[in-house]
Amino acid sequence: MPTDSASGTVALAFSGGLDTTVCVSLLKDEYGYDEVIGVTVDVGQPDYEFAEAEETAEALGVEQYVVDATADFADRCLQAVKANADYQGYPLGTALARPVIAKAILDVAEEQGCSGVAHGCTGKGNDQLRFESVWRDSDLDVIAPVRELGLTREWENEYAKEKGLPVEGGNGGRYSIDTNLWSRSIEGSELEDPSTIPEDDIYKWTENPSGKDAELVEIAFEAGEAVAVDGDHLGTVALIERLNEQAGAHGIGRTDMMEDRMLGLKVRENYEHPAATVLLTAHEALEGLVLTQEERSFKAQVDQQWSQKAYEGLVDAPLVSALEAFIDETNERATGTVTVKLEGGHCRPVSRESEYAVYSESAASFDEEDVTGGITQQDATGVAKYHGFQSRLANRILADAKQEAPVTDGGQAAGDESGSTSSEE
Ligand code: ARG
Repeated sequence: MPTDSASGTVALAFSGGLDTTVCVSLLKDEYGYDEVIGVTVDVGQPDYEFAEAEETAEALGVEQYVVDATADFADRCLQAVKANADYQGYPLGTALARPVIAKAILDVAEEQGCSGVAHGCTGKGNDQLRFESVWRDSDLDVIAPVRELGLTREWENEYAKEKGLPVEGGNGGRYSIDTNLWSRSIEGSELEDPSTIPEDDIYKWTENPSGKDAELVEIAFEAGEAVAVDGDHLGTVALIERLNEQAGAHGIGRTDMMEDRMLGLKVRENYEHPAATVLLTAHEALEGLVLTQEERSFKAQVDQQWSQKAYEGLVDAPLVSALEAFIDETNERATGTVTVKLEGGHCRPVSRESEYAVYSESAASFDEEDVTGGITQQDATGVAKYHGFQSRLANRILADAKQEAPVTDGGQAAGDESGSTSSEE
């Protein structure tokens, strides 16, 4: 809540968009801060977003700090690949970025001796929770003007006009867009109606899947982490950028979905995430080769729990480090290469190789009689006899019991009467 007593400096998560621009003014006028510093954290947004933020900060007379967190964020993306992570089909770009951004802002706030930290998130979304779970671990005041003052975009536009705040330009304001290395999210406007078919122009990373020739891409993994594309060893950021471009050209990685937010609201979301789709597809294919059947089925549960915590922005939860111990140990064997085919908006694995393959060609082959462990086809006869034994037995017993059951004829009324007679006996 606004207090007149607040003073000193507040560090604001600053993008230069409408929300944060309005927040700068409100933090001074409504909350009584002497100074607002803007912190913009680089997690792979496009260049024009930084130019816009810088320009707006200058126009507002706000001192702006830009922190490069791309490498840290890219590492989290690759950890998400090890966990085959998605939330209801969304590869978690925004969710994974928020704790990284929150931490970077907190560091600046502490270095600069701020008394508070602020964000421009609404009270309806997930981001407020993800930011604050990091910030509330400090002694700084946490301010959320948009939520606390119940602001709407319409009110913000009016207020900005009145105050002469620089809010022109940007993405035109039609959609609310959040872009980072891992995904681009497009929300709002007519897309809020789940029955509206999006215009093609909402997409910026992905081409409309057309007649483009199919393309093969080979991804090399070491201990579950992607290290090379088509033999080119690249740094994590460059590797993700390259796949965003390469797979985006085939229209790969579009998601149009209903998402259940943490507060329980169901919202329509659109995403683009070409690199994430390729890496998740390739990694899962590699795990299919190197993990045992029981590891794969248990890991699916571990991955689901990891994804849930990542969606919540609670990557520092003790549960997460325990889950990662399992994920990392199983992924020690996820070393090898997977080739995926990019074609017409889809990406599918077409080849996989690893020195840790839990696979014996001679044992599985239709052509050879084998060998591994000295097992022959005939050895399966006993297994085949037992297979389904319990179900067959249960079904037979059930069928017999039905046949033997007495046929009750007009039973209800007769039963009632016999009941009263028997009590007399
Ligand atoms: N719903 C997603 C999440 O909570 C993405 C939100 C992105 N925000 C935006 N303004 N487009 O992770």
